[in-house]
Amino acid sequence: MNVNKEQIINALKNVIDPDLHKDLVSLGMIEDISIENNDVSFKLVLTTPACPLREKLKNDCILAIKTFVDASLNVHVELGSKVRSSPQVADKTAVLPNVKNIILVASGKGGVGKSTVAVNLAISLGKTGAKVGLIDADIYGPSIPMMFNLMDAKPKVIDKNGVNRIIPFEKFGIKLISIGFFVDPDKALIWRGPMASTALKQLFTDVEWGELDYLIIDTPPGTGDIHLTLVQTLAVAGVAIVTTPQDVALADARKAINMYRADGIKVPVLGLIENMSFFIPAELPDNKYYIFGKDGGSKLASEMNTPLLGQIPIVQSICESGDAGEPISVSDNNIVEKSFASLAEKLTQQLSIWNAFFEATDVEQHEETCNCKE
Ligand SMILES: Nc1ncnc2c1ncn2[C@@H]1O[C@H](COP(=O)(O)OP(=O)(O)OP(=O)(O)O)[C@@H](O)[C@H]1O
Ligand SMILES: [Mg+2]
Repeated sequence: MNVNKEQIINALKNVIDPDLHKDLVSLGMIEDISIENNDVSFKLVLTTPACPLREKLKNDCILAIKTFVDASLNVHVELGSKVRSSPQVADKTAVLPNVKNIILVASGKGGVGKSTVAVNLAISLGKTGAKVGLIDADIYGPSIPMMFNLMDAKPKVIDKNGVNRIIPFEKFGIKLISIGFFVDPDKALIWRGPMASTALKQLFTDVEWGELDYLIIDTPPGTGDIHLTLVQTLAVAGVAIVTTPQDVALADARKAINMYRADGIKVPVLGLIENMSFFIPAELPDNKYYIFGKDGGSKLASEMNTPLLGQIPIVQSICESGDAGEPISVSDNNIVEKSFASLAEKLTQQLSIWNAFFEATDVEQHEETCNCKE
């Protein structure tokens, strides 16, 4: 039969991305259509390689072509992705213009698992094929050197056109830098805010990050000077808030969400991550014990009108693998690695939604609208 590209494009205009509420053609997600006899091929270019809707969208495309063009066609869809920059970065005067999306991992309370989440999220995203960087900005208690077994390591410094540039480490598929490689945490404790902020800024300005799809920043506990420096210096695409299910942690998470939504800050809150949600004993992997209480994260998420992006179980190997310098997400097919992979999907999905929302809005209006959308 005689099929032309226009018919294929028109058919694909019927496929709507359920997150972005537009058709795939208008979203620029269809590329390289070719037709040979009964075979139709094209690329479906997703906004993130971690897209949880990839199979659904692919099947919807095939169905649309068979329904609106001809049921006898063989449709071949090649999945690809191009991570889009958060519109905040579109301003090329931004620090790190080659980093498409900067994501903060924060919490109100200490010890809830920010570093564990930041590290495993970064590794999970890297496994999808995204270009990922990780910054440990916890100036008073950096934990990433230990989690990557780089305690005594010093990053390489090169001379680039007469300027010293720091080369990030590359391990487990991601690039990483910790403030801990440069300052002694015991000395950092006595630093005043401005000194800490200056040291931190060098992690953005003096490091050769190259092009990155996602840069994850592990932050210190609370909502202090470091967080202000981060949101004032960088075009932050969004923040993910980590909590545990207990009331004390939830109260601090609520404060942190309010801080990021406050006037003058206005960073999109991508969602809540509940860590240590339930305990799974190694010998009884089908049993779940909600030792810190049940549903705390989901209740806070609905109260604060933000999605619950994931629930990470308490598993001894999370702690052991972190201490041993090989985070749990490096290995495949265990329940924890799967929960971090699902978290990576949900988080980037929210990011794509926020980015599309901002693209449709005047950049000048960001400040106004940023947290009214959810
Ligand atoms: N889901 C989990 N299961 C078991 N152990 C965990 C889990 N999450 C975190 N831990 C352990 O709890 C401790 C605290 O975690 P982590 O360092 O990630 O917290 P944090 O919020 O970054 O702390 P800080 O506020 O000090 O920066 C670590 O020893 C870590 O290995
Ligand atoms: Mg930490």
